[in-house]
Amino acid sequence: MGERSQRPSAAIVLAAGKGTRMKSKRPKVAHDILGKPLVRWVVDAAAEAGVDPIVCVVGHQREQVEALLPASVTAVEQKALAGTADAVASAKEALGGFEGSVVVLSGDCPLIHPETIAELIAVRERAQAACTVLTMEPPDPFGYGRIVRAADGQVERIVEQKDATLEEAALTECNAGFYCFDAQALFAALEQVDANNAQGELYLTDTIGIFRAQGARVEAVVADAALECLGVNSRVQLAEATAAMAARIARRHMDNGVSMVDPTSVWIGPDVRIERDVELLPNVMLLGETVVGEDSVIGPNTRLIDTQVGRGCTVEETVAREAVLEDGATAGPRAYLRPGAHLCEGAKAGTHVEIKKSTVGPRSKVPHLSYIGDATIGADVNVGAGSITCNYDGQKKHPTVIGDGAFIGSDTMMVAPVTIGENAVIAAGSCITRDVAADALGVARARQTEIDDWARKHRATTRD
Ligand code: UD1
Ligand code: CA
Repeated sequence: MGERSQRPSAAIVLAAGKGTRMKSKRPKVAHDILGKPLVRWVVDAAAEAGVDPIVCVVGHQREQVEALLPASVTAVEQKALAGTADAVASAKEALGGFEGSVVVLSGDCPLIHPETIAELIAVRERAQAACTVLTMEPPDPFGYGRIVRAADGQVERIVEQKDATLEEAALTECNAGFYCFDAQALFAALEQVDANNAQGELYLTDTIGIFRAQGARVEAVVADAALECLGVNSRVQLAEATAAMAARIARRHMDNGVSMVDPTSVWIGPDVRIERDVELLPNVMLLGETVVGEDSVIGPNTRLIDTQVGRGCTVEETVAREAVLEDGATAGPRAYLRPGAHLCEGAKAGTHVEIKKSTVGPRSKVPHLSYIGDATIGADVNVGAGSITCNYDGQKKHPTVIGDGAFIGSDTMMVAPVTIGENAVIAAGSCITRDVAADALGVARARQTEIDDWARKHRATTRD
């Protein structure tokens, strides 16, 4: 495997089907695996194999499917869902007389490897075959088209389950649903396909028998594992495909020097980057454009989406989205970092701390039970337990600025807009509504009074 075609090749991705068994209001191929829709996995695999142009056949709820395709992919509509041969034929015009290799891929088979697509192309071109078809030996062949081989080993024809005789149904080699065709041979053969079969559909698989009747070659490429060809038709298969993809991605990162205590409990999206010597603890999801720098420890129970984590960070039981943690920053246990949360070098967002659209300066700490929103916190600041930026007046959000070296006592309310100067000290329990100057003490709380002997007298009056 791993061969690349020199000449340009095209792809047709079939994604017009209904996906009834998903029992969903969304089109089947729009369902996600690790943050990426099924159809995108297939399109991206084709692009990675060097295939260009890519045409996607859409039909059922086509607007929703089209919205998921990259701009480089042309969507064409299949008007009536008359079968896989009709689906492929509807892409003909969009390919505008393209000559050479055309791969046909199912939009619901996300586990296909780019290397396998490249191999289908390379084998066809080397053998000068009209078609190469990917075959597999699934644990249960029921439902798949069966591969009927000729005496010389070539593929003679493909028989659908519903049309198979008992002997044919006993064959274990199945059609995986991935092919590479010679473009001209394909579109010529499609014109000869009829719906004379058990399902009354136009079968793409009938082209194989047509090629052989013409004396053209048809070659098989045998898949290393049937799992690669798993089609997602139900929620159970969606979960199976997700587990397989998560395992594949986890393995790649482990091979690159990332440790995982339990890889089966780690879910990493396709675009996540992780440097070596990172440790991922159980129940970790890293999704979107997340990046994790060297020597960081993530988890357990952590979900990071589009978040950048620097080197040597500790992120424990944390949910973060569109957040940035610079080198040596720590989050959690139980921190919630919302979009725009930025922890500078060595900064800390501790237990039950929520931070939104705020910068926490170098070495500054927000260790316990705080909400920080729309704030700019300088370096070496300590924000005491239970402190809150009151950033919202019910209509607008307002900023809080805390200067370098300031000390915010516990349970401080900072009613924004407000500025606390450098090295200022705020007394615990203060409700700060006006700016506090640098180096000043801000106190805003009721004075304590003390009544001598009150408690002893109270006890005496309440005794039996
Ligand atoms: C097909 C193959 C079968 C193979 C199996 C592998 C045919 C006739 N049979 O069967 O040999 O073992 O795939 O998974 O091709 N689609 C359209 N328009 C249509 C019909 C289908 O776009 O009119 C799309 C579907 O959305 C799907 C793909 O084509 O992505 C395959 O169609 P499906 O009906 O699922 O074919 P199978 O019966 O699974
Ligand atoms: Ca199918």
